[in-house]
Amino acid sequence: MPEKPRKILVTSALPYANGSIHMGHLVEYLQTDIWVRFQRLRGHQCTYVCASDAHGTPIMLKARELGVSPEALTERVSAEFVRDFAAFGVDFDNYHTTHSPENEALTVAMYVALRDSGDIYTKTIRQAYDEKEGMFLPDRFVRGTCPRCKSEDQYGDSCEVCGATYTPADLIDPVSVLSGTAPVLRDSEHYFFRLSEYGDRLRQWMRDASLDRNVVAKLEEWFAAGLQDWDISRDAPYFGFRIPDTEDKYFYVWLDAPVGYLASFLNLCERRDDLDFDEYWRPGHDTEVYHFIGKDIMYFHTLFWPAVLAGSGHRTPTSVFAHGFLTINGKKMSKSRGTFITAQTYLDNLDPAYLRYYYAAKLGPTIEDIDLNLDDFIARVNADLVGKLVNIASRCAGFIHKKFDGRLAEALPDPALFAQAADAADDIAEHYEKREYSKAMRRVMALADEANRYIDEHKPWVMARNPEQAADVQAVCTQGLNLFRSLVIYLQPVVPMLADKARAFLGEAEWRWDDAASPVLARAINPFEPLLQRVEPERVQRMIEQSKPAGGDDVAEEKDTISIDDFMKVDLRIARIDKAEAVDGADKLLKLTLDVGGSSRTVFAGIKAAYAAESLEGRHVIVVANLAPRKMRFGVSEGMVLAAGPGGTDIFLLSPDEGAEAGMRVK
Ligand code: 2FM
Ligand code: ZN
Repeated sequence: MPEKPRKILVTSALPYANGSIHMGHLVEYLQTDIWVRFQRLRGHQCTYVCASDAHGTPIMLKARELGVSPEALTERVSAEFVRDFAAFGVDFDNYHTTHSPENEALTVAMYVALRDSGDIYTKTIRQAYDEKEGMFLPDRFVRGTCPRCKSEDQYGDSCEVCGATYTPADLIDPVSVLSGTAPVLRDSEHYFFRLSEYGDRLRQWMRDASLDRNVVAKLEEWFAAGLQDWDISRDAPYFGFRIPDTEDKYFYVWLDAPVGYLASFLNLCERRDDLDFDEYWRPGHDTEVYHFIGKDIMYFHTLFWPAVLAGSGHRTPTSVFAHGFLTINGKKMSKSRGTFITAQTYLDNLDPAYLRYYYAAKLGPTIEDIDLNLDDFIARVNADLVGKLVNIASRCAGFIHKKFDGRLAEALPDPALFAQAADAADDIAEHYEKREYSKAMRRVMALADEANRYIDEHKPWVMARNPEQAADVQAVCTQGLNLFRSLVIYLQPVVPMLADKARAFLGEAEWRWDDAASPVLARAINPFEPLLQRVEPERVQRMIEQSKPAGGDDVAEEKDTISIDDFMKVDLRIARIDKAEAVDGADKLLKLTLDVGGSSRTVFAGIKAAYAAESLEGRHVIVVANLAPRKMRFGVSEGMVLAAGPGGTDIFLLSPDEGAEAGMRVK
């Protein structure tokens, strides 16, 4: 029974408009696009919107660094995104920006609705403030020593070494990454959303939304930990929308970002008569809304976002589909390994169809990470798309064209084999619907194997030598081409460009999913053009080389070295430690008073965990004597003592040979 046409709105996460689209992003856009194209092929009205995420501190600072306005930066980057997405066949109905009048109006309206129903309150909080830059610092813009494991140079919100989470105020020796100065703590009034009031509604939503079990498990964890109210404001300077009735408070980027889904849709509704905003975003309508996201932003999409929507009189999403991260050759993408591959670099070397198919062959509905193994990529695409699928057509098309004037036979010689492919439609559709793309691909490729086996058995190239078997050649090739056609219809959501070419070859205007069930017979088709080239390993290699930092390893090496002239500038001397003392308030530092041959210097050295102060007095060490004095939190340091080792208690001062005297040059 044909399904009742559905009205579906789909979104992918809005990319920050300050970088480039890369292989990692594409997992999500291709996953979403495949689903959207599948729904459209099934005859549903499926609208797909996206936008650039334009606001927030990193974008503001990046624009400042480039000497352009954030508007100009985000517009330029968005134009690149649009170009990349189009080249990969990502078929948005609309691509907008969060820095738009629609988004401002919707964000303010939602905020006012929340405020008027008592869901917003203000509270003064203490936050790291950079006095030199004149701005409050997001946690990631403060670095310092982890309060738990004492690893240096950790972010202000969490330690990459021991995994501790904390606030910038907990860091030891915190430093603003903007100015290099120590931040101070300053009070500021912030606006909070009462997420804590939404526990019951969110639990109900979680049950209704048929979320993946990993997502449910995460939500259960968050519920068990207790829902905290959410800080939705940021102080000026900030690139975003100003909060009504304030002078210098802005909505936190994560408040207006998901509203960008509505804004992009609203912008589309303004030019599409068949779409009605309220039908999709107010409660009580028979429409469906799905958000495709990465697993790292689940908290925003499964707690804050449904709560904000519900609290402001909007419908909640039908479901949220989270995917995992991408690794390349089993590891995180890396510039030095050449695996930080941008969309543009990929396109400069390879056909987008390869990646669309490869991701589909790997993707399931869970938050499990997927790996793009480049050897497997080459092998799989060549074996499946070229060796199995396209091969069916290229083995049959020539005979039909040369011998039968391009005409297909009147009937299929093996209707049962065709029925086998047609009967798989429901299973394959179910796999797509459930985002089990890897299962769908396996099923299609198994059918392609059957088709190739059929052709192998009947050997049209042998029969073609015998004029008496001409009708059989036409029949077998018609059978082969019809199997090919059904499989390409199934694969159209994944490889739409290839499907377009195949459809043109078969002389058809449009395909719907159900067309896979009825063969084309007794009509002329067009000459066959190659549908897809094999992946050339050299091109993959070239793509990796092009993804490495400019100039490759040689330059990296050059950058890491200094010239002998530079080295000669360093004045290394023997110094005698006259005094070593602990520094109040500093866990790791010792204050050393050094005799550098007549002159006395104060040097702060981070060696307290490795050496007891008393053990150092009278000892000779090597110092950089001509280092410019540096102002530190506890005083001015007038040089640097040389030491080696991984840190902590494993630091070893470099000691000169016996007989060395303070003031001697080391080189
Ligand atoms: O994590 C990110 O890249 C965000 N820019 C995603 C935003 S999705 C939506 F909420 F806008
Ligand atoms: Zn730590």
